[in-house]
Amino acid sequence: ARKIIIDTDPGQDDAVAILLALASPEEIEVLGITAVAGNVPLPLTEKNARIVCELAGKPETRVFAGCDTPIARKLVTAEHVHGKTGLDGPELPDPTMPLQAQHGVDFIIDTLRSEPSGTVTLCPLGPLTNIAVALQRAPDIAGRIQDIVLMGGAYFEVGNITPAAEFNIYVDPQAADIVFKSGAPITVMPLDVTHKALVTKPRNDAFRAIGSPVGVAVAEMTDFFERFDKEKYGSAGAPLHDPCVTAYLINPDLFTGRRINVEIETQSELTLGMTVADWWGVTDRPPNAMFMGDIDADGFFALLTERLARL
Ligand code: BDR
Ligand code: CA
Repeated sequence: ARKIIIDTDPGQDDAVAILLALASPEEIEVLGITAVAGNVPLPLTEKNARIVCELAGKPETRVFAGCDTPIARKLVTAEHVHGKTGLDGPELPDPTMPLQAQHGVDFIIDTLRSEPSGTVTLCPLGPLTNIAVALQRAPDIAGRIQDIVLMGGAYFEVGNITPAAEFNIYVDPQAADIVFKSGAPITVMPLDVTHKALVTKPRNDAFRAIGSPVGVAVAEMTDFFERFDKEKYGSAGAPLHDPCVTAYLINPDLFTGRRINVEIETQSELTLGMTVADWWGVTDRPPNAMFMGDIDADGFFALLTERLARL
C-alpha cells in the first residue's frame, strides 16, 4: 500500500476523501492526518477530522493539528459552502479519540525524514500552509516526497472564491507558491476535474442505499453541500473535489492530464491565488506539475460507492 499523509480542512468533500482512503487499506496506508485552517478555523477542522475517523470505525488513525493561519494573510473561510461546523448535514457525535500532541508540521517533517526516501505521498485537500511551512523549515524533505497529489487551482474553470482563483490556493497563495516552486513532484486536481465529479440525484441515492451509517452520512453531507452549488451555479449536484485526490491513488487511470508549468499569482489584488497554468505550452517555463484535465466520472462514483460500502 502507498503511504500517505492527508492534509485537510474538513469540509464535507474532505470527509469523503478521508473515508475513501480509510476504506482502501490495500492501496492506501494513512500514516496520519494533519488538519489545517481553511473551510473553517483549525479547532473545527481538527475536530471534524476526528469525527470522520470515528465514523469510519478507525479511531486509531493519528490526527494532528497544524497551522491555524495562512503564512502572510488573514484566514478566509467558507461557511457559506460547508455550514457553521464545516461538516453540516449529518448529526455526528463529538469525537472521543485523542488529538495527537505533536504539531502537524513536525509530523510531516519527521515522517518524511524517517521513512525511506520516495515512499511517502502528501495529499493536501485544503490550503497549502502546513506543507509550505514544512518545506520552509526542512528544505531537505522536498527531495524525499514521492508525490504531492493536491486538490487546488483551476484553468478553464477559473475561480470559485474569486473570478480568478480557486479556494484552497486563494486562502494561502504564498504557501501554494512555495509548494509549486519546491521541485517536489506535484499532481493537481483542479476545478476542471472536480466540477465533473458531481453528486447527481442517482449518485446520492446510491450512497444512501448502502444503508450503513457511513453511506447515510455521506448522502446527508453531499445533500447539504449541494445546496450551494445548485443555487449558486445551477450545477447538477455537489462537486466532490477532494475525493478525486484519494481516488487517483487507488486508480490513476480514472484521470487524464498534462505535465505543464503552473505558477501562482501572489501579488495582484485582482487575481490573487490564480493558478497560471500553461496548458497550451505557450511559454518555455519548465513543467513542474501533472495537471489533470478530465475524469471518468461514472468510474469514479462506482469506485467510491463500492469502497464506502466496505466501512
Ligand atoms: C476546495 O475548497 C474547499 O471548500 C473544498 O473542501 C475543496 O478542497 C474546492 O475549491
Ligand atoms: Ca478541502
